[in-house]
Amino acid sequence: MILITGATGHFGRATIDFLLKKNIPANEITAMVRNVAKAEDLKNKGIRIKVGDYDDYSSLLSAFKGIDKLLFISGNDMQNRVKQHENAVKAAKEAGVKHIIYTSFVRKNETETSPIAMLAKAHIETEKNIKASGIPYTIMRNNFYADVLPMFLGEKVLEAGIFLPAGDGKASFATRLDMAEAAANILTGEGHENKEYVIANDTNYSLNEVATFLSEVTGKQITYTNPTTEVYRDTLLKTGVPTDVIGMIAGFSEAVRQGELSTTKSDLGNLLGRKPTTLKEYLKSVYSNK
Ligand SMILES: NC(=O)c1ccc[n+]([C@@H]2O[C@H](COP(=O)([O-])OP(=O)(O)OC[C@H]3O[C@@H](n4cnc5c(N)ncnc54)[C@H](OP(=O)(O)O)[C@@H]3O)[C@@H](O)[C@H]2O)c1
Repeated sequence: MILITGATGHFGRATIDFLLKKNIPANEITAMVRNVAKAEDLKNKGIRIKVGDYDDYSSLLSAFKGIDKLLFISGNDMQNRVKQHENAVKAAKEAGVKHIIYTSFVRKNETETSPIAMLAKAHIETEKNIKASGIPYTIMRNNFYADVLPMFLGEKVLEAGIFLPAGDGKASFATRLDMAEAAANILTGEGHENKEYVIANDTNYSLNEVATFLSEVTGKQITYTNPTTEVYRDTLLKTGVPTDVIGMIAGFSEAVRQGELSTTKSDLGNLLGRKPTTLKEYLKSVYSNK
């Protein structure tokens, strides 16, 4: 029996769809959800539903009973994630889960000086806890979702161009769908125990290249402006963007600038058995009709 946490989120739903496409019977898949009302479509597909919340240890323990393979999708509560994930790993151990596959995040600098330290902390702790638990594991070190890029580029990118303090840094953005397909392949394949995979595109992309791709797929001339972080913050503050959003985008941009999200190796193509979707293909799917 396979269980997917975060099953009402984008990654979880996509992984379930890939499992069904691979002819895994729906009644061999359990979706762990916090809110059953959001899981009607999953229920209608014949997926087993278990209620579980990372904040509620006993709900996790009960959800994980009888589970062989657990796809543990990281939560999105930045304040409480360390403790929540600790609960999940402990519950997996107590329930006797046989293989845990965790969606982690790419990083190089594991110290507090990292511009994404706040985000990396829970992943570093969770990876340590999983390894210490003795449960066979697979760590997916996911790169930046290409799918998040449009939010960072902003709604007016086709008129105003790209305005981000990312310098000439690069990231190996890959699509969330490709990553979910890789997760489904790990869940149904052999030989993935005690492995750490780099889940990234084959190519590192700069924001200048993103501007070029956008120009090519839209036929408009899209430029990339690279302000200092201070100028970026001041400019966005004046347009009324909330400070936490500015901080998050500035932090990620700085991480890209420093090369934190660039890679020299990727396991994604091997896990998919094909080349990952390129960033240009992804941007075309989003922007070509705009
Ligand atoms: N690599 C990247 O670029 C990137 C970007 C964004 C996020 N991420 C990480 O990847 C994860 C999956 O991505 P996604 O796109 O699927 O995110 P998503 O659509 O926001 O889904 C997050 C899922 O986590 C569930 N969740 C949150 N808190 C929980 C809790 N306390 N107990 C149980 N479930 C909880 C949510 O449940 P509800 O549906 O009930 O809210 C939702 O199903 C994110 O949660 C985040 O950790 C990575």
